[in-house]
Amino acid sequence: MSVEVACKRITVPAIRARKGGRPIVALTAYNATAARFVDRHADLILVGDSVAMVEHGLPSTLGATMEMMILHGQAVMRSSARALVVVDMPFGSYETSPQDAFRNASRLMAETGCSAVKLEGGRHMAETVAFLAGRGVPVMAHVGLTPQAVMALGGFPTQGKERGDWDRLREDARSVAEAGAFGVVLEGIVEPLADDITRRIAVPTIGIGASPRCDGQILVLEDMLGLNDRVPRFVHRFGDLGTGMEAAIAAYAEAVAERRFPGEANVYRPRAD
Ligand code: KIV
Repeated sequence: MSVEVACKRITVPAIRARKGGRPIVALTAYNATAARFVDRHADLILVGDSVAMVEHGLPSTLGATMEMMILHGQAVMRSSARALVVVDMPFGSYETSPQDAFRNASRLMAETGCSAVKLEGGRHMAETVAFLAGRGVPVMAHVGLTPQAVMALGGFPTQGKERGDWDRLREDARSVAEAGAFGVVLEGIVEPLADDITRRIAVPTIGIGASPRCDGQILVLEDMLGLNDRVPRFVHRFGDLGTGMEAAIAAYAEAVAERRFPGEANVYRPRAD
């Protein structure tokens, strides 16, 4: 039974094998409703630590906790059946040592049933990536603009604007890929450098504010649906659900105020029989 369930989902090796092939469609989802829709179209669902900002109204991803990631990971796993689900390791859960990282990554996998975890960082996280990958924890790495470093970076600056930074950024991607990451998210990296990294490393790159020539793309679902007012400059809104939601809520408020619902809506009339 469990083998059957595990095989229905897109696997880590299947995503890894998409290097240079059909682009990987990835999106975030944090809850059961979103996961149900995303699962029909995406190869990979990320339960991102951006959940702290999008769903909990926090100012950055730094407030995400293990409990938060587990709760949202469980909801997404329950309502998806096909996509590979990756859960983000929250700030503070993996930086102290490879052993701490393993304890928290294995907890995320055991308590949610997800297939892999994601962590931020390049060269300095390579040892941890190797430690996890060598112990059965598939790792997606995340380099370039790493939002958990918002305080150190002083914001969310695009990476690689200065050519002098290119070697360091290349080295970050190379070291986590060689340490055993099955994929690398490239966030906020200038296009020619993202292309160059994609050509050089052996595992798929998943771009966000990077280049259309990455091996896949990821966006925060609410950003591309038009549900967030403030989005990064590179985000294209593929929908305008915010406007639709506003109109529906306003129509409902009006119906309540006027005690006038269409037809039999919001009424329970016992049948005559
Ligand atoms: O937390 C997140 O949403 C991410 C992105 C790559 C989309 O890490």
